[in-house]
Amino acid sequence: MELSEIVKAAFEKAYPGEDFGGVRVVPATDPKFGDYQCNDALKFAKKAKANPREVGARVADALKGNDVFEKVEIAGPGFLNLTVSSAWLASRLADLNAADRCGIPQSGAGKCVVIDYSSPNAAKQMHIGHIRSTVIGSAIDRIFRSLGYRVVADNHLGDWGTQFGILIKGYRELLTQEERDNLTVANLEKCYVLSAAKAKEEDGLWKESCKQELVKLQQGDKENLALWKRFIDISIGEFDRMYAKLGVKFDTYRGESYYNDTMPGVVKKLQEMGLAVESEGALVVNLESEKLGVAIVRKSDGGYNYTTSDLACVKTRVEEYNPERIIYVTDARQQLHFKQWFSIAAKMGYTTKLVHVPFGLMSYQGKAISTREGNLIKLDELLAEAVKRSLAIVMSRRGTEGAPAPQPTEEDVKLAEAIGYGAVKYSDLSHDPITDIDFSWDKALALEGNSGPYLQYAYARVCSLVEKAGGTDGTSPLPKDVGFAVSTSSEKRLALQLLEFPGAVVRAAEAYKPSVLADYLFQTAQLYSTFYQSSPILKSEPEVRAARLRLCVLFGKVLSAGLGLLGIDTPRHI
Ligand code: ARG
Repeated sequence: MELSEIVKAAFEKAYPGEDFGGVRVVPATDPKFGDYQCNDALKFAKKAKANPREVGARVADALKGNDVFEKVEIAGPGFLNLTVSSAWLASRLADLNAADRCGIPQSGAGKCVVIDYSSPNAAKQMHIGHIRSTVIGSAIDRIFRSLGYRVVADNHLGDWGTQFGILIKGYRELLTQEERDNLTVANLEKCYVLSAAKAKEEDGLWKESCKQELVKLQQGDKENLALWKRFIDISIGEFDRMYAKLGVKFDTYRGESYYNDTMPGVVKKLQEMGLAVESEGALVVNLESEKLGVAIVRKSDGGYNYTTSDLACVKTRVEEYNPERIIYVTDARQQLHFKQWFSIAAKMGYTTKLVHVPFGLMSYQGKAISTREGNLIKLDELLAEAVKRSLAIVMSRRGTEGAPAPQPTEEDVKLAEAIGYGAVKYSDLSHDPITDIDFSWDKALALEGNSGPYLQYAYARVCSLVEKAGGTDGTSPLPKDVGFAVSTSSEKRLALQLLEFPGAVVRAAEAYKPSVLADYLFQTAQLYSTFYQSSPILKSEPEVRAARLRLCVLFGKVLSAGLGLLGIDTPRHI
């Protein structure tokens, strides 16, 4: 039984007939006071106008004879400080060890969630600014999947709009035949920049002809459509190359264009419902009463916009997947957009929970990233640099001093990829999404401190410890007849922390913050390190040695599962 339930039952025994639905046992804030605490005696005393210490005493009394707790103390104005028994702890560790998916509850079973993330604009190379939506979204995706949800990961590409008129015109007139034959996203980007510059020319001729290309595309002109399709395919091919490196997978790639045919119907419905009204030639939804301003749903030129497209998209997603919720991961500058259309969707009768997960800006090595400054680093380059730097670290640990540096093997490169990509991901995921972050190589690749490599090394070290314990003859270091047993305080701290893993995953999902899980893993690794330094393992007596090794193995399992949910690989040997 869960601790909360045990204590709740004690409340009920002490005060029959009362409702104690909300009773919670939480980890103690300070191990000095015990392992867990419960503050509900105070809450109940307030409600029942009773003396809180007396309530605490009665509950403590009701807990007597329970072999879960070794000690129950009433502190201050009625806090219950709980110390668990070693037998209970050992049996919970065994449960966790035996549980599938490290005990993560399958609370999402039978439910669907759509997660909309990464969603870059087509015909442009992904740059360092795209990393946040991709990495945060993918971690949320993995976390929800681990909870048993059916997840539809949808890449809502920006694949429609005026830029395609500019691109088509540029493609036809500004690219060489060779560039057209070997079209890459880099070429598309170049042709966009050149064409957009020409569209600013005073005579307005270029601009006009870009517009005509766009109109032709919108009207379904075969040639323009084929070109557009080619641009999109090339873009997706290029994006997929990044996703493969980052271990990110999507179920669907439905860009904005997917909803072109649905938008008119949505606008019609908004008009029929009296939600959208004409204003200066445009059609708008007034959200002033909610302090959300006015949202345009059809521009004065008859075109639709981002709001219309998201409304059409939610309609399709609800009809097709009937999701319990839809999660959108974008930068914080889009907050108003999401607030506006979430409000419109609610007025239209959508009851699906719509969640916007906004993230802050990212700077690079202390400098703001900006297109104008020309310091927009391509994601491809960032990832290549991550591997290069990680390979240097890997190789510095090989060979002997004085000898010429050995040539990296294929395995070394794989390892460098795991470390480099892991470092890039963790440097983002270890922060609350909403904060602005600075990417620094020193911090990301630090072997000490809160970094991806630090956690990966912790995992590799525990693997090699367990291997060493098995001896060269391969005998199992974990004799079957020795179970978990916890004796020292550092051992107990680690054990209690490991039991919190499923809870940390749940909290990360509830808050839409992979950082909750990252924090948990970092703390766990620190507790492991304290335990490792203070409690001898391999040199202990056989029983203690085996029990401690079991704890080490469980730590490795939890760490690897947790990092896996963040999309970070855990090589066994580094
Ligand atoms: N393409 C947009 C951008 O680059 C993000 C789209 C997010 N998803 C959505 N359904 N609005 O900012």
